[in-house]
Amino acid sequence: MSQYPTISEQLDDVETARTEGRRKMEWARQHMPILNALREEFERDRPFEGQRIGMAMHVEAKTANLVELLADGGAEVAITGCNPLSTHDDVSAALDTHENITSYAKRGVDDDEYYEAIEAVVDIDPTVTVDDGMDMVAAIHEDRPDLIDTIVGGCEETTTGVHRLRAMDADGALEYPVFAVNDTPMKRLFDNVHGTGESSLATIAMTTNLSYAGKNVVVAGYGDCGRGVAKKASGQNANVIVTEVEPRHALEAHMEGYDVMPMAEAAEVGDVFITVTGNRDVITREDFERMNDGVLLANAGHFDIEIDLDALSDLAVDQYEARDGVEAYELEDGRRLNVLAEGRLVNLASPIALGHPVEVMDQSFGVQAVCVRELVENGDAYDAGVHDVPDELDREVAEIKLAAEGVEFDSLTDAQTEYMGSWQHGT
Ligand code: NAI
Repeated sequence: MSQYPTISEQLDDVETARTEGRRKMEWARQHMPILNALREEFERDRPFEGQRIGMAMHVEAKTANLVELLADGGAEVAITGCNPLSTHDDVSAALDTHENITSYAKRGVDDDEYYEAIEAVVDIDPTVTVDDGMDMVAAIHEDRPDLIDTIVGGCEETTTGVHRLRAMDADGALEYPVFAVNDTPMKRLFDNVHGTGESSLATIAMTTNLSYAGKNVVVAGYGDCGRGVAKKASGQNANVIVTEVEPRHALEAHMEGYDVMPMAEAAEVGDVFITVTGNRDVITREDFERMNDGVLLANAGHFDIEIDLDALSDLAVDQYEARDGVEAYELEDGRRLNVLAEGRLVNLASPIALGHPVEVMDQSFGVQAVCVRELVENGDAYDAGVHDVPDELDREVAEIKLAAEGVEFDSLTDAQTEYMGSWQHGT
């Protein structure tokens, strides 16, 4: 067993933290009908009996409900964070009280501690992995390849993790099956679009106490997340500018009525910059040099490499905390460029961040839960590599949600099913 301390061993007033963490989890649970429906099933059937699940995710109240769901379904679970700043210590401590759960997640860890905590999770010899960003899959392949034979499979939550996994798969280096949970309609069309849009904008507004109305909000990357950020910023009366490298996405943004231009031009006019590309070096030294005094710089992509903070530090003559979660970089001519949440994904890493709305994460985690069930029940059916989530699993989650919302919808008639499956019907 690992020597790395659990969250309970790291906190001074662990009892108070547990109580507060449990309160946050209970609130979230009241708004998670999908996980609640699956809990009834899993408590009855105990599908994960004998399984050990290793998780690296943003440890806050919604995730905690997924973790408990898996544990209540019979699994032994170990979890740590997937970002040094996104853990809620009180929630982590509340999770750690469950007899089947060990939590190593702590906010504010340094790089060494971050990877040591992942090693500690890997030390339970997981049979299933659940990742957000792929750091656990990477740690297992690099440091503990001896575990791969007993792992039935993994699930990946986010776009960047799926990109990394596909690159690994293309290199022939991915040695067990992993579901691309991110790519399902129930995740991508809601979590990435609405979740990232709402929570990033809300967090930036709360962290700065500033308004969007009348401002130029530059959204870098018009993928699923960027669409949400742009739409919601526009809804708050911002003038939205989009930067892109993919011509069809640039055209789509243009046809939505947004200004589209290169970052070098956007840098001269933007008031608020939000990067959501999953790429590196999206805002660089040349851009900082053109920016106006007082701009806000926030990243909502997975890693903290979208805004080149090393270059900004080099340019700055002074650097200080302007507010909680806001670091001001003062340039030689007096201009101040304000970076939120150290350039880490703002909607989870800012001090007041709560992540996506509960309802949205209920959907994403519903997909995670049925994917873990699928791996445990039918893991043999999947070869090593990245797999799309079977569509019937995604539909199952959608149907649970619609039933919980009291929304009824139509079914195809036999004639319609036959028509849709036929190539012989023409004019
Ligand atoms: P996506 O692949 O749908 O969109 C990314 C877009 O960025 C693409 O249109 C691409 O052409 C564009 N892009 C790439 N390099 C660029 C550059 N240098 N300049 C301008 N545009 C560029 O990906 P998605 O789903 O929108 O995710 C984006 C990032 O957000 C990923 O890192 C993902 O993991 C992360 N994410 C963050 C969440 C959060 O809670 N903050 C939630 C979900 C995803």
